[in-house]
Amino acid sequence: MDIHSLIKSKTSIRAYRKDPVPLETVQRILETASMAPSWANRQCWRFVVVDTQVGKNIIGQASGQPKIIKACKDAPYVIVLCAYIRESGVKNGLEYFMFDCGLAMSNLMLAAEAEGLATCIVGWFNEGAIRGLLNVPQEVAIVAFTPLGYADESRKPRKRKKLDEVVYYNQWEKTQN
Ligand SMILES: Cc1cc2nc3c(=O)[nH]c(=O)nc-3n(C[C@H](O)[C@H](O)[C@H](O)COP(=O)(O)O)c2cc1C
Repeated sequence: MDIHSLIKSKTSIRAYRKDPVPLETVQRILETASMAPSWANRQCWRFVVVDTQVGKNIIGQASGQPKIIKACKDAPYVIVLCAYIRESGVKNGLEYFMFDCGLAMSNLMLAAEAEGLATCIVGWFNEGAIRGLLNVPQEVAIVAFTPLGYADESRKPRKRKKLDEVVYYNQWEKTQN
């Protein structure tokens, strides 16, 4: 599948089969994830691969979201994306570790898709519960996590804004915003 079709057909998946996935596949995905560009090539991201049932359950519970709780329980892996904030930079008061991690997560999701696997970024969770479980140091931000495994639901692409709502040529255009 070409890259355009891969990106367009990819959706967040919130139901997973319990079928195992080889650790080498996960490592291949994470290698591609870590090829993302980053602030001064500092690569602030760190990935925690969780495959224990108790660990996946606790992480899912930390989201407080019923579908994500089941997704984390069923998927063979949950990948937790963290960042050494100080390894990234700040511009105009904006901290770029989130940007760096977004790029890495995007690579991760597309690499997973290319392997026939599914993901769902989860950014809403009780950070303390995951920090305690994984022993993540205080100077490291827990940015997001995703279940990783085979989809147990069909991909129904979500609608996007029309291109002329988000693309301007040569100058800013007024919108309903
Ligand atoms: C930063 C970020 C945080 C997200 N957090 C959650 C989340 O906590 N729970 C969830 O079910 N989906 C979460 N999502 C997934 C979005 O809801 C999803 O990407 C969006 O609805 C578009 O759907 P699609 O990914 O299927 O195209 C998050 C996505 C992003 C980019």
